[in-house]
Amino acid sequence: MHIFNSLGSNYNFRFVWQALFSNDFKPHTDDLKLLLEKKYFGKATLVYKGREAIFLALKAAQLPADSYVAINGFTCYAVYEAVRAGLNVHYLDIAPKSLHFSAIELEKALQENPKIRAVIIQNTLGAPCDIEVIATVCKKNNLVLIEDLAHSVGAVHSGGQEAGSFGDFLALSFGRDKIIDAASGGALIIRSRKYQDYKMPKLHRVDQAQQLRDMFYPLLTWKVRAAYEIGLGKPLHFLFNKLGLLTRGLGPSLKDPHYLPNWYSALVSRQFASLNKNLDHRRKISAIYSQTIDQKLQFLNTYSNNTAFLRFPIVVDKRAKLIEYMKGKNIHISDIWYDAPVAPAKYLKLTNYDGKCLQAEKIAATILNLPTHINVPEETAKKIASEVNNWLAINTKNQITNSKLKIGEVDD
Ligand SMILES: Cc1ncc(COP(=O)(O)O)c(C=O)c1O
Repeated sequence: MHIFNSLGSNYNFRFVWQALFSNDFKPHTDDLKLLLEKKYFGKATLVYKGREAIFLALKAAQLPADSYVAINGFTCYAVYEAVRAGLNVHYLDIAPKSLHFSAIELEKALQENPKIRAVIIQNTLGAPCDIEVIATVCKKNNLVLIEDLAHSVGAVHSGGQEAGSFGDFLALSFGRDKIIDAASGGALIIRSRKYQDYKMPKLHRVDQAQQLRDMFYPLLTWKVRAAYEIGLGKPLHFLFNKLGLLTRGLGPSLKDPHYLPNWYSALVSRQFASLNKNLDHRRKISAIYSQTIDQKLQFLNTYSNNTAFLRFPIVVDKRAKLIEYMKGKNIHISDIWYDAPVAPAKYLKLTNYDGKCLQAEKIAATILNLPTHINVPEETAKKIASEVNNWLAINTKNQITNSKLKIGEVDD
């Protein structure tokens, strides 16, 4: 079996079917709104993308136009885009052995830049950030706090509170490869009463062709993954992309946020119903990686059962070589979150990233993600972990041989 980080890997056959035949009844939307409002104690607006939720949160906060929003300096272009649609970005470097900025980094930034008026936290890959302290700094400095839960629905912070219990606003993504994955979708939850009366701008309709692409995404990606078993995966993937059948990551412009059509809501609600089972699985798979993979490649402070483990991160110097080796074992892990401080790396030049997040740059150059989704059974996780160790052993042996050759200067 070929295994992927992405390419529709969150879906099982039942989901493929549900996506194709989900109906467009309004009660689906009402039910999902109710579910979110009860879970997160706020006012919910359903949108087509997580980035639209961030954009609307910042609109509702009604900050002066010269405001800066502090974001993790190890993030997705979508977050950058959502802020830059109206305001300015201040990048916060990640803390050592972490994928997130610390409260200390935030306080330092506030000294440098008094125009920071909002902060977005993001619990990268599901690892909870130090929200209790960050929230205290926000309160002390009168900053708007947005919790971006794209990676971390169901994660629990060290104090025992679930992600989503602290922010003035929450932004959720139900996009591809997230914990709650309905091919696309997002939600803004306004928790702070102060902003709940904000009148949302008109939300636009997602065009029909885009909806069809999303509806067929689970089926087509399933076909592509299946075609890898007979050596035809790559050409079929290329063909589907060429014909414009597969949804593109960046999607429609942020200037016109969209409402979420009813049928996506039905899928999202079903995903919430199986959230705990899904998280248990991700944690079980991560525990296997954590216990098996050589400690030299593991860098997160601690392995914790509170993490949502959207993916399991390791770091490795010769990353491209390991990717190639794993590909030879039918394990496709070249899709990396994140390969740049604002990722993907090919979009970094479109941003105003200032080169100051040195820790993030170091991690971006070496991080690799291992899959934890439902299509990785425990046996496969063990195989993935031992292949990583095998590669490390081969690589270390080669390094020793090479360095001995250099010292002895004899090669015949
Ligand atoms: C941390 C984070 N927040 C938000 C988003 C945006 O999600 P969406 O694709 O639904 O706009 C992403 C995208 O992958 C992300 O990584």
